[in-house]
Amino acid sequence: MPDGAVYRAGWTLDDIPWSRFDPSKVDPVVLRAVKAASLVEFNAPDYVKYLSSVCRTGPADVVRDIERWGGEEIQHGLALGRWAELADPQFNFKAAFARFHALYRAPHFQHADSSVRGSRRGEMIARCVVESGTSSLYTALRDASDEPVLKAIAGRIAGDEFRHYRLFYDIYRNDSEPDLPRWKKCLIALSRVNESGDDELPCAYYCANVPEAESRESPYRRRHYARLYRDTIMSFYRRHHVEKLLKMVLMPAGINPSGRLVSWAGAMAFTFLTRRVAPAPRTG
Ligand SMILES: [Fe+2]
Ligand SMILES: [Fe+2]
Repeated sequence: MPDGAVYRAGWTLDDIPWSRFDPSKVDPVVLRAVKAASLVEFNAPDYVKYLSSVCRTGPADVVRDIERWGGEEIQHGLALGRWAELADPQFNFKAAFARFHALYRAPHFQHADSSVRGSRRGEMIARCVVESGTSSLYTALRDASDEPVLKAIAGRIAGDEFRHYRLFYDIYRNDSEPDLPRWKKCLIALSRVNESGDDELPCAYYCANVPEAESRESPYRRRHYARLYRDTIMSFYRRHHVEKLLKMVLMPAGINPSGRLVSWAGAMAFTFLTRRVAPAPRTG
C-alpha cells in the first residue's frame, strides 16, 4: 500500500491479559453485544473470498492485504468469542457460529464474481462504511466496559478497525478505475448504511443469545431481533461515538467531515438513534 505503516497486525491472542478477567464486572447487556459481534467477525472468510474476487483484476498486493485483513477479523472473532465463553460458560462460540453460518448468507456471496456496488471503488466505499461502524462500535464497547479483559480486547480491535478503514480508503483512492461522481459515492455509502438493517446483525444476535434448545419457542424474526440488537448497541453508544462514525462515513463519500454542519448532523443522528431505544434489553 502507499502508506505501508497503516496496515499492520499489532497483537495476538497471547497478548490479551486473560488472567485479569473479573466476572463481577461483566455487564449482561455488553455481553449480548460481544457474543453477536464474535459471530460476525468470525465470518470473515466469506468476505475475503468475495472481496478477493472483486479485486482480482487490481494490483496483487491488494488481494494480499485483503487476506491479511481477513486474518485480523477472524482473530477479532476468536478473542471476543473466548471472552464471551469466560463471561458465560453456557455460551459455545463455535456452536453458535455454526448456527449463524447456516442461517445467514449474504446474497452477493452466492452469485457475484464482481462487485454488487458496480465497481471496485464503490466496493471500497462500502467497506469504509463497514469499518467506520466497527471502529465506533469497539470504541463504544471499550468505553462502556469496566471489565479489564474486555476493555483490553475492545481497545485493540478498535485500533485494528481504524486501520482497516484506512486500508480500504487507500485502496479506493489509489484505484486505477475512474473516480465516481459525488452523488454516486453518497448513494453507495447510504445504501451500505441501510444494509445494516439486513439479516446479518439480527441473525448474529439471535444465534448468539437464543440457545438452540429455545429456537422452537423463539424462532428467528428479523424485525424483533434487529430491534433488540439496535437497542443493545445504542444503550452504550454516546454522542461523540456517533459523531465520529458520521465523519468517517462522510469522508469516502466525498464530503468534508470537518464542517459545523457535520457536527450538527451527528448530534441529530444521535438523538434519532437513541430516541426509540428501549431500556437495555434483558431477554432474547
Ligand atoms: Fe473486526
Ligand atoms: Fe475490520
